[in-house]
Amino acid sequence: MLCFGYKFLFCLVSFLCFNVLCAESFHTNKCVEKERRALLKFRDAINLNRDGISSWKGEECCKWEGILCDNFTHHVTSLHLILLGFGGKLDSSICELQHLTSLNLFGNQFEGKIPKCIGSLDKLIELNLGFNYFVGVIPPSLGNLSNLQTFDLGLFNYLTANDLEWLSHLSNLRCLDLSYVNLTLAVDWLSSISKIRYLYELNLNICGLHQVNPKSIPLLNTSISLKSLDLSYNELQSSILKSFRNMSQLQKLNLNSNQLSGKLSDNIQQLCTTKNDLRNLDLSNNPFKVMSLPDFSCFPFLETLSLRNTNVVSPFPKSFVHLSSLSILDLGFNQLNGSQPIFEITKLVSLKTLYLSHNNLSGPFPHTIGQLSDLNELRLSSNKLNGTINETHLSNLSELKYFDVTQNSLSFNLSSNWVPPFKLETLHASSCPLGPKFPTWLKHQRGLADLNISNCGISDSFPKWFWNLSSSLRYLNVSHNKLNGPLPKSLPSLNVNYDHFRVWDFSFNNLNGLLPPFPKLDALFLSNNMFTGSLSSLCTSSSHSLRYLDLSCNLLEGKLSDCWKKFQSLEVLNLANNNLSGKLPNSLGALRQIESLHLNNNKFSGEIPSLILCQNLKLIDVGDNNLQGSLPMWLGHHLHQLIVLRLRANKFQGSIPTSMCNLSLLQILDLSQNNITGGIPECFSHIVALSNLKFPRYIFHYWSVQVSDDGEVYEIGSFNDKEILTLKGYSREYETNLGYWTTIDLSCNHLTGEIPEGITKLVALAAFNLSWNNLKGFIPSNIGHMESLQSLDLSRNHLSEGNIPISTQLQTFGPSSYVGNSRLCGPPITNLCPGDVTRSHDKHVTNEEDEDKLITFGFYVSLVIGFFIGFWGVCGTLVIKTSWRHAYFKFFNNINDWIHVTQEVFVNRLKKRFQVED
Ligand SMILES: *[C@@H]1O[C@H](CO)[C@@H](O)[C@H](O)[C@H]1NC(C)=O
Ligand SMILES: *[C@@H]1O[C@H](CO)[C@@H](O)[C@H](O)[C@H]1NC(C)=O
Ligand SMILES: *[C@@H]1O[C@H](CO)[C@@H](O)[C@H](O)[C@H]1NC(C)=O
Ligand SMILES: *[C@@H]1O[C@H](CO)[C@@H](O)[C@H](O)[C@H]1NC(C)=O
Ligand SMILES: *[C@@H]1O[C@H](CO)[C@@H](O)[C@H](O)[C@H]1NC(C)=O
Ligand SMILES: *[C@@H]1O[C@H](CO)[C@@H](O)[C@H](O)[C@H]1NC(C)=O
Ligand SMILES: *[C@@H]1O[C@H](CO)[C@@H](O)[C@H](O)[C@H]1NC(C)=O
Repeated sequence: MLCFGYKFLFCLVSFLCFNVLCAESFHTNKCVEKERRALLKFRDAINLNRDGISSWKGEECCKWEGILCDNFTHHVTSLHLILLGFGGKLDSSICELQHLTSLNLFGNQFEGKIPKCIGSLDKLIELNLGFNYFVGVIPPSLGNLSNLQTFDLGLFNYLTANDLEWLSHLSNLRCLDLSYVNLTLAVDWLSSISKIRYLYELNLNICGLHQVNPKSIPLLNTSISLKSLDLSYNELQSSILKSFRNMSQLQKLNLNSNQLSGKLSDNIQQLCTTKNDLRNLDLSNNPFKVMSLPDFSCFPFLETLSLRNTNVVSPFPKSFVHLSSLSILDLGFNQLNGSQPIFEITKLVSLKTLYLSHNNLSGPFPHTIGQLSDLNELRLSSNKLNGTINETHLSNLSELKYFDVTQNSLSFNLSSNWVPPFKLETLHASSCPLGPKFPTWLKHQRGLADLNISNCGISDSFPKWFWNLSSSLRYLNVSHNKLNGPLPKSLPSLNVNYDHFRVWDFSFNNLNGLLPPFPKLDALFLSNNMFTGSLSSLCTSSSHSLRYLDLSCNLLEGKLSDCWKKFQSLEVLNLANNNLSGKLPNSLGALRQIESLHLNNNKFSGEIPSLILCQNLKLIDVGDNNLQGSLPMWLGHHLHQLIVLRLRANKFQGSIPTSMCNLSLLQILDLSQNNITGGIPECFSHIVALSNLKFPRYIFHYWSVQVSDDGEVYEIGSFNDKEILTLKGYSREYETNLGYWTTIDLSCNHLTGEIPEGITKLVALAAFNLSWNNLKGFIPSNIGHMESLQSLDLSRNHLSEGNIPISTQLQTFGPSSYVGNSRLCGPPITNLCPGDVTRSHDKHVTNEEDEDKLITFGFYVSLVIGFFIGFWGVCGTLVIKTSWRHAYFKFFNNINDWIHVTQEVFVNRLKKRFQVED
């Protein structure tokens, strides 16, 4: 493909060429003064990365970087400023360069509108403004550029066009890229394009194209010479295929992520023409009918076929073997089952990439895979393959670079002295039984960059040679095995391009010994091991890029060194569940990026150091330590992002500072089991997250980990998986559904006074625990307004005199909520209040309570406890694989739904009850 396929390369070459090699030839040229002034105006409007045009001064504008002039007339004929990051407006002075034949500003940060007057540059053959930040409607005056052959406004601009009539005048156009342009309103796009006779390559991906009237679908002109057509990520339906009839030149067709429907076979039939030269077909992510693969024999030259997520089922057609040129096949996310599909596919001996992840394939690892000696990339994750993979299976795969068998029941039976014929870059074998010995054949995989052998049943220590591999590993996951023994005293430094996200995950093993200094990483997970000793080695690690550090659930002890100033990038620090002691060092306060700080379940003492510079903090958990002093005032004054504050089970004393009421995002406040005195601040009602039902509750980014696997990496435009992976690095998300939980726990303190009436404004509060204090007085009469309340514990106080206010919930919490307040009376407590008459429907009530046996206060308590144990207690069970996380959260979502439903049932029943009573 001439147009855009080699865009980058072409640009680069031509750029280098005139800069380095060819520039000499133009030294004698003297440019036209009017054009020189126009160029200076254009230059002065640039406000970013101006260094790139430092050569733009003096008289000889033909010598300036990026400019070419005509040898005889000295007019500027070409302006190429590519991928230089220039920003600012595109000044209309550029339109004074009336002799321009080529204007290429691809890959900068120009913003604002495209000047209308560019339509007057009628000598233009190439116009490329792609990959910038242009906005607004594309000026229809560009339709005057009748000499234009290459026209690119695509990629990331924010342009729109209300119609494309003007485009049809560009009769010489060969290459057109309008990707990302909003063409929602341009219903004439197809008929306008049809008029461009010599169009060769057309990119209209991500344009919001939707169905045109099926009756008036124009045939893309028979004489059309289109070779490459990209219409991916639109809303097109199957009837569009009619217009592609007779496109006998077409080699590349991309309809990924549209609304094609009906039988895949019928769609294919529409595309079949007498002479078909199609090489590259992508119909992924379209809602076709569930059916097996049709015959593709009308595309005998097919090289790439993508049918990911298109509802394909077994059996696999035998005719497929005739596609002898096929080198890339993607059938992931379908419903292929049994072993027949792989058996048939492996007859395609020129396959280089085979993607069958996320199907239901079963049976043994197919020995026929060994026939695919050109195979580069083999992805079989999330299927039901079982049996063993042995040397015979792999002996011919000398080209293999990417091997993914995650989430199958495959085991490896490879002898310890086997030397693989391949040099892998990626091995994903998570959840495949590779153990119990550490797989020795990895010794020879010196180029591994990406290794996931988590949950593979390895109970062994790391062999020495493993650390020779480690310097190239930008992603290493050996978590959830039984790896034992210490880590080496010194680890080699990482020899990895720093554009990549570098992650090492050793969590959930039996590793012990001291922590060594670690190489430069972005994330390091060592939780749930048996590491001992102090953290002092951290101070000598290459730390400045570290963003996530999890050392929770180990046997670490001693004081924290005061070296946290080095960790300027740290966002999540988890040291929970160790035996760390001593004072918290002041340098913790230098972690300006920190969002989550988990120091809970240790033996820290002294006061909390000032964290007023840590203004991104969303979570502080220092619960279950020996911290003392008064509750910090600065919390409320400085940490306005705080969502979770957990200081429970320490020795904090004094009263609750009213500044805490400034924490308007606070959803979880746990001050229980301290020595807190004074009253409950009335101003708690100012906490917006707890008092406003409509408040957009944060989906709090916390601690579970999501490594992009096949499922999450998706394609945008012309990027492929690999590029996206490289672009995004290994995206890890830290997320919980904490967003939906709201709680205040002040239990087990020495709070005095009455429960302030203002508390009842906390209508979004779900759990409220004031038990084991010295509160007295009444239960606020409006407490029934707290409509989100699912758990209320007022037990073991001195609340007195009078009825428990009748509300929808209070009676449902069961007597245990109120025990120890001897002078309370009324339902649900059996004490009758003075003046109550014996009610005739008591029996009725008990019957209903029997029905709802499960849904008692006990249930809520266990739910809350369960939540916290699950969330805080079980040493980071959330730091696990995606699928587990999903399961966990599904569980919680369901419970939430269930609570919601059961509460409605409750409310309805109670309403009925009270009607009876009235
Ligand atoms: C201009 O001159 C250079 C070298 O002197 C030559 O390569 C190039 O083809 C000429 N361009 C035109 C348009 O004549
Ligand atoms: C484009 O051409 C039309 C006539 O075909 C003319 O009216 C219009 O001014 C031209 N626009 C520009 C920007 O030259
Ligand atoms: C595209 O334009 C339409 C119509 O102006 C508008 O409704 C829509 O939101 C736009 N889409 C995007 C993604 O901007
Ligand atoms: C096809 O091209 C011919 C010749 O350029 C033109 O006359 C005709 O209008 C075009 N058809 C459509 C549907 O645009
Ligand atoms: C593979 O699974 C099938 C059933 O799905 C079972 O019959 C067979 O015994 C399994 N083979 C091995 C080696 O586990
Ligand atoms: C590998 O397994 C196949 C059966 O799946 C068997 O025929 C072959 O002999 C085995 N090769 C080795 C080296 O064990
Ligand atoms: C609780 O705090 C008071 C001062 O407010 C102090 O006298 C008492 O010793 C503290 N109790 C404990 C157990 O620390």
